[in-house]
Amino acid sequence: MLHHWKRVSLSSAVFTLGVLGYGGAQSQGVPASASPPAATPASVAAGQRTYDQFCAGCHGPAGKGNGHGGESGPKPADLTAEKLAHGSTDQEIFKVIKNGVPPNYYMVPWEGQISDEDIWNVVHYVRTLRSKP
Ligand code: HEC
Repeated sequence: MLHHWKRVSLSSAVFTLGVLGYGGAQSQGVPASASPPAATPASVAAGQRTYDQFCAGCHGPAGKGNGHGGESGPKPADLTAEKLAHGSTDQEIFKVIKNGVPPNYYMVPWEGQISDEDIWNVVHYVRTLRSKP
């Protein structure tokens, strides 16, 4: 009886550890609850470099959606719009850049190509585009 109980509790402890371990690995991605790093002049400048390299081709140098890319799909989004179709908060913009826009992914996922830190920098830069006329 006692012996049996011990075995059960041991395996549930292992199970719990497994779940915690999995949760730990998950949190290396950025969970929705993570608070974004604050925008600084340096992060905006870094974001602009990443934007010019990876995004301007489609979204245009000023984010107006008038770049050359995306001919086969929908027009690249105008990132200066006050309201973005896929969400206007920093977190939502972060997710769009990281995960792309389903189901066709004309807006491709940048995970693996741009680090989370640089995606946040781009989010900060994209926000500065919005206030321009
Ligand atoms: C190959 C062309 C292409 C490239 C490169 C590209 N995008 Fe996009 N992007 C699109 C298209 C097309 C959409 C609209 C997708 C849709 O609505 O289905 C879009 C949508 C978005 C949206 C959502 C806008 C909204 O209205 O909700 C954001 C934000 C965005 N892109 C940011 C970026 C950033 C930042 C980069 C660079 C890291 C980037 N994109 C690179 C084509 C591109």
